[in-house]
Amino acid sequence: MSELRLLAEKLDAADELAPLRDRFVLDDVVYLDGNSLGALPAHVPGRVEDVVRRQWGELRIRSWEESGWWTAPERIGDRIAPLVGAAPGQIVVGDSTSVNVFKALVAAARMAGEDRTEILVDATTFPTDGYIAESAARLTGRTLRAVTPAEVPGLLGGRTAAVLLNHVDYRTGRLHDLPGLTAAVHAAGALAVWDLCHSAGALPVGLDEHGVDLAVGCTYKYLNGGPGSPAYLYVRGALQDRFDSPLPGWNSHADPFGMSPAYAPAPGAARGRVGTPDILSMLALEAALEVWDGVSLTAVRAKSLALTDFFLRCVAEYTGPGRTECVTPGRHEERGSQIALRCPDAGEVMKRLVERGVVGDFRHPDVLRFGFTPLYVGFRDTERAARILAEVLA
Ligand SMILES: Cc1ncc(COP(=O)(O)O)c(C=O)c1O
Repeated sequence: MSELRLLAEKLDAADELAPLRDRFVLDDVVYLDGNSLGALPAHVPGRVEDVVRRQWGELRIRSWEESGWWTAPERIGDRIAPLVGAAPGQIVVGDSTSVNVFKALVAAARMAGEDRTEILVDATTFPTDGYIAESAARLTGRTLRAVTPAEVPGLLGGRTAAVLLNHVDYRTGRLHDLPGLTAAVHAAGALAVWDLCHSAGALPVGLDEHGVDLAVGCTYKYLNGGPGSPAYLYVRGALQDRFDSPLPGWNSHADPFGMSPAYAPAPGAARGRVGTPDILSMLALEAALEVWDGVSLTAVRAKSLALTDFFLRCVAEYTGPGRTECVTPGRHEERGSQIALRCPDAGEVMKRLVERGVVGDFRHPDVLRFGFTPLYVGFRDTERAARILAEVLA
C-alpha cells in the first residue's frame, strides 16, 4: 500500500469527527459536493414522514400551533445561530438566499440614510448577489459599484451606504477577511452585509463577535438541509428596530392575525419574515440540524484544513507538476473548505471523475471544485479522490 494510503488510514483512525459519518446516508462514492448539496442525515426521512403523515395528515390546521409550525422560522434561526456565532433572537429562516440578499441590502441602504449614495458589491461572487444588488441599488436610488473584496478598503468613504461581500468565494474557495473588512466598512460609517453560503457549517463565522450588521446564507450546503431548503437572514440585535423590510408581508406584521390594513412591523427577528413559511422543507432542515449536536466548530475547521492540505499533497504527489493549477489560496487564513483546481477540459474531467465514483463539480470555464465536508468526508476518501483524479488526467 502506498505511503499516502497508509497515512490516510492513520489520520482517519485519529479523527475525532469520523464517527459523525454514520449520521448520514452515504455509500462508496467519494462525495466532495457537500458545498453544493449536503448529504442526507439518516434520521431526516423519518422526521419528514412524521411531519407529513401525523402533523399534516392527522392534526391538519392544528399543527400551526400544536406542532410549532408558526414559530419555526425563529426557532430554527436560533438553532443555526451558534453555528454562525450569533446569540439567539437575531436569525429568521425562510425564503431563498437571493430573496434575503434583497431584504438585507435594501434595508441596509435605508438604514444608512439618504446622503450615502453608493453600494459596493463583491463582483467576484456568485452572480445572484450582483443581480440583486443592481436591483436594490436602482430601487433605493443608489449607485452600484462592482469591486473585489481587496479593493473595498480603498473605496470606502462618506458616500458608502452598504457593502455586500462573500465570506468564501464559491469558485476559488478563497476565504475573505470578515473581521477586517467589517471593521473597515464600519470605520467609514457604512453597513456590512455578508453572504455566508460557503462558510456556515464549514468554519467559525463570529457574526456577533465581529459586529456584522446583516448576513444571509443558504442551508442546503454545509448545513445539509436538503435541496431548496430555506435560507436565513441575520439582523444584528441593535439594528432590528431600524430594519425596514422591502418585503413587509403579513408574516412580519406585529399582529399578523389582526388583519389590519396598516403595516406595523413585528419586533425582533420575525421582522425579516415575508409570507407563509415553507413548512415541509423548513422542518426537514430543523431535523437535519440535529447532526450538529455536540459538534465543535473548532474541530470542524481543523479537520477541514487538514483534509484540504492532505488533498493538495496527494494531488501534487500523484498528478505531478503542471497538470492542474490550484486557485484556492494555500494560506489557511484565506482558505474555505474547498479546493478548486484549474485544468484544460475540466468539464470532461469532472464527468469522468463522477463515472468513477468521485463527485465534485465543474464551474465554468475551467474549474474543478472539490468540497470537503468534515462531518462525513475522511482522509481515505480524500486520498482516493486525488488518486482517481491523477488517473483521469493521465
Ligand atoms: C454564494 C451564494 N450566494 C447565493 C446563492 C443563491 O442562493 P439561492 O439559490 O438560495 O437564492 C448561492 C447558491 O449556490 C451561493 O453559492
